[in-house]
Amino acid sequence: MAAEVNVIDHPLIQHKLTLMRQTQTSTAKFRNLLKEIGMLLAYEVTRDLPLKYEEIKTPLTTMLAPMIAAEKKMVIISIMRAGQGILDGILELIPSARVGHIGLYREPTTQVAIEYYFKVPHDIEHRDVLVVDPMLATGNSAVAAIDRLKEVSPLSIKVLCLLAAPEGIAHFHEQHPDVPIYTAAIDNCLDEHGYILPGLGDAGDRLYGTK
Ligand code: URA
Repeated sequence: MAAEVNVIDHPLIQHKLTLMRQTQTSTAKFRNLLKEIGMLLAYEVTRDLPLKYEEIKTPLTTMLAPMIAAEKKMVIISIMRAGQGILDGILELIPSARVGHIGLYREPTTQVAIEYYFKVPHDIEHRDVLVVDPMLATGNSAVAAIDRLKEVSPLSIKVLCLLAAPEGIAHFHEQHPDVPIYTAAIDNCLDEHGYILPGLGDAGDRLYGTK
């Protein structure tokens, strides 16, 4: 199966992403921008949702009208902690989505992803899943999250990020060629600490003002 990478290069997203990259952007502004971009990305990522037609009454007549066909609400899974920022935006657009959390941190010297939390809806095997994390850097966290999610067999999985590094995409798709990636941009490379260049710094720290 051909590994799929979708770059969502809508001008509004690109403009807001540029504002997020800038050092002088405040924590409050960064958080708001991530939320807005989350909303816009969700719009594109859900473009292929199947529709069904149901008879409804308008004030004037009846019609067969389109509705989302999925029997169970989709699940948005946030990779903590920076995933929360995108999640908030997506929930503005899809308020009835179910939410899961995977807690992973990067071991600073090896950059290996270590799991410390995993909570997803109990009936996830009947649901489509969208995994969100702003930064696909080494790809280790995304690979670990999808390894773990595949153990609970959701109907489908997509990964949504804000920025991806070519190294992270390659590593992710070596392990999970069946999982499509959606991103607002593909940057140049990683630095020696596994940060994306030019990037936007540490997404979690910028989102919560912890550094
Ligand atoms: N995580 C971040 O928050 N930023 C990066 O550049 C890479 C990983």
